[in-house]
Amino acid sequence: MKATPKRYLVTSALPYANGPVHIGHLAGVYIPADIYSRYLRLRGRDVVFVGGSDEHGVPITIKARQQGCTPQQVVDKYHEMIKKSFADFGISFDIYSRTSSEIHHKTASDFFRKLYDGGMLTEKVSEQYYDEEVGQFLADRYIVGTCPKCGNEKAYGDQCEKCGSTLSPTELINPHSNISGSKLVTRETSHWYLPLDRYEAWLKQWILEEHKEWKPNVYGQCKSWLDGGLQPRAVSRDLDWGVQIPVEGAKGKVLYVWFDAPIGYISNTIELRPNDWEKYWKSEDSKMVHFIGKDNIVFHCIVFPCMLKAHGGFVLPDNVPANEFLNLENDKISTTHSWAVWLHEYLEDFPGKQDVLRYVLCANAPETKDNNFTWRDFQDRNNSELVAILGNFVNRAMVLTQKYFGGETPQPGELTDFDRDTLTDVKEVKAKVEDCIENFRFREALREAMNLARTGNKYLAETEPWKLIKTDEERVKTVLNIALQISANLAIVMEPFIPFTSAKLRNILNADSAMLTWDALGSDALIPVGHQLGEPALLFDKVEDEAISMQLKKLEEARKNRDALSYRPKPQKELCSMEDFQKMDIRIVKILEAEKMPKSKNLIKMLVDTGVDKRTVVSGVADHFDPQALVGKQATMLVNLAPRAIMGVESHGMILYAEGCDGKLHLVQPAGEAKSGSCLS
Ligand code: MF3
Ligand code: ZN
Repeated sequence: MKATPKRYLVTSALPYANGPVHIGHLAGVYIPADIYSRYLRLRGRDVVFVGGSDEHGVPITIKARQQGCTPQQVVDKYHEMIKKSFADFGISFDIYSRTSSEIHHKTASDFFRKLYDGGMLTEKVSEQYYDEEVGQFLADRYIVGTCPKCGNEKAYGDQCEKCGSTLSPTELINPHSNISGSKLVTRETSHWYLPLDRYEAWLKQWILEEHKEWKPNVYGQCKSWLDGGLQPRAVSRDLDWGVQIPVEGAKGKVLYVWFDAPIGYISNTIELRPNDWEKYWKSEDSKMVHFIGKDNIVFHCIVFPCMLKAHGGFVLPDNVPANEFLNLENDKISTTHSWAVWLHEYLEDFPGKQDVLRYVLCANAPETKDNNFTWRDFQDRNNSELVAILGNFVNRAMVLTQKYFGGETPQPGELTDFDRDTLTDVKEVKAKVEDCIENFRFREALREAMNLARTGNKYLAETEPWKLIKTDEERVKTVLNIALQISANLAIVMEPFIPFTSAKLRNILNADSAMLTWDALGSDALIPVGHQLGEPALLFDKVEDEAISMQLKKLEEARKNRDALSYRPKPQKELCSMEDFQKMDIRIVKILEAEKMPKSKNLIKMLVDTGVDKRTVVSGVADHFDPQALVGKQATMLVNLAPRAIMGVESHGMILYAEGCDGKLHLVQPAGEAKSGSCLS
C-alpha cells in the first residue's frame, strides 16, 4: 500500500479559448476532475485544483482571421465565457487563469531558457511549407490536405479529425493553405526540438513498468507510441501569436502551443500560491493527477513528462485518467461544426438544472469507451432516477415527518432485522464510493451513491409508514428516523457529484456541513432526535417531452447549417476539349428495379431503361438510399462507360449523384419529367 500523499495537485486540461465549452468538455475532463477534487477536500486532504484557458495555438489565430479581429480579442471573449460556464456548473477550481497572462509568459519562457541553456534542446534547419500569398510559414492547422490514412480531404497538418491520426504536414496529400487556399512552397527555417528519443528508455521504465495501474486506454496508447519509437519534436513555430522564444535570433518565433500550455499548470499554481507553490510541484510527497481527454494523452504522458524531466526538480504525474470521447446523438461533437450542447445555452434552457447535467454526464461518462449523449437518455435519467428515486425518497421522508411529527426528528424504538440490514447497507456505502473515486471510476462511484437512495426508497416502500401510522405510531418513529438518517447520508455522499443538490438537501434537513462531514458518512445518527427539520421542497422536477423536442429541433437546425457552412467545393479540374466531352454519352434514364447486393457493404444493383435498352448498373450508394426509394425515379447516367464487373455483377454505365445539404447523395434529375433516353446537350 502506498502511503497517503501529503498533498494533491489536480490539473484539468486547459481548453482552447476559441469557442464556448460544451458537454464533451464537462463529461470528459471537468466533472471527473471536480468530483475528485471535491472528494479529496471532503476528506480533509490538501488539494490544489488548477484550470485555465489555453490561449495560444493556431485555432485561435484562425478564428481571429475569420472574425476580422485580433487573437487577443478572441481569447478575451471566450476566456470569460468559459470561466463563467465552469463557475455556473460548480467546477471548483482553486484557480482558473489563462496562458496569455504575464506570469505564464514568464514561466514558460524561463522554462524554455533552462532547457536551452542546459543543452536539452537540439536545433535543426528544415524545409517547411510556406504560403507565398500570405508571406508566412505554415504549420499545424494552417495546412489542410488529404489524410493519407483515411482519405479525409479536410485533414490538418497536425491531425486528422476524422480518423484521429496524428500527422505531420508532409504526410498530407495535396497540402494547401488554410488561410489563402493556395498551393504551398517549401522554404528553409530553423527550429528547436525536444529530443524525445533520448528519453525512450526512461519512459519505458517509468510508464510501462512502474505505472501498470494506469487505465488500459492510457497505458495502451503510451505503449504504442513507445513501441513505435520516439522522434525529436519541434517546440518552436514561425508565428507571431504565442510566447516569444527568449533566445537571440529567434525573432518571429514562438513556443509551440503544446510546449507552453502544460506549463500553464505551473504558472497558474504560482499565480494562486506565489509563496508556497513549490510544495505542490517540487516535493516528493505531493501527488499530481492530470484530467484530460484521449486526444491529449501523448502530450501529458510522454511530452510534458520529458519536459519536466529535462528541466529537473518537478514531480511527474502519478496518474493520467484520460477519458474517451462523448458523442452527441451519435455524431462526433465539434466546435467548428456547431454540433454540441453548449453549457451557456443549456443553462438558458434549463435554468437551475446544473446537477441534472452533472448527473447524466457522470452516469454515462466515456470512461472506458466512447459514449453517446442523447436527449432522451437525459430525460429518462432525470425522470426515472433523479425524480423518481432520489427526489421521491427524500421528499417522502420529509413530508411524512412534517405531517406526523411537525418536522421534528422522531425517537427511534427497537430495530427490526430489516432496519438493521438497511443500516448495514448504509454503512457500506462509504468504503465503496471511496474505493471507486480513488481509482477514478466515477460512474461506478455515482452508481454506489445512488444505490443509497434506492435503499431508502425500498425501505419506505416496504415499511409503508403512511399505512402504519394508523396502527403503530411508535414504529413509524423508527422508520422515519432511519429514513432521515439515510437522507442525511445522501447529502454527504452526493456532494462530490451533484453539489447544488447536496446543499439544497442540507438546507431541507436544516443541517450544515459541520454536522454532515464525510467522516460521518455511514452513520445512523447524523440527525439528532428532536432536531427540527427545514421546509420540505422538491429536489428535482420532471423534464417534459416538449423540452426534449425543442433540443432535438435545435440540433436539427445545427446539422443543416453545419452541412451548408462546412461544404467546400472541389477545385475545378483540368480543362478538357469539346471532343473529350462529346465522347461521353450522358442521358436521362429511368430506374425500373433496385436491390441491395447481398454480402456487399454498400452496393445497389439497378435495372434501368436507357431508352435504347434495359440494362444493369451497380452503384455504391446503399449508405445513401433505400433501394425501394429509387424505383421509378429518373436519373442521369453515363451510358457508354466501358462495362466493369463489380462483385461478380457486370455494370454497364454509371449513374450520377451529387452531395446534398443533408450530407447524403442525391440523384441528379431533370427539373421536369424528361424522355427516357434523351441525351444531355
Ligand atoms: N487546449 C488543449 C485541448 O483543448 C489542451 C491543453 S492541455 C495543456 O486539447 F496541458 F496543454 F494545458
Ligand atoms: Zn484520417
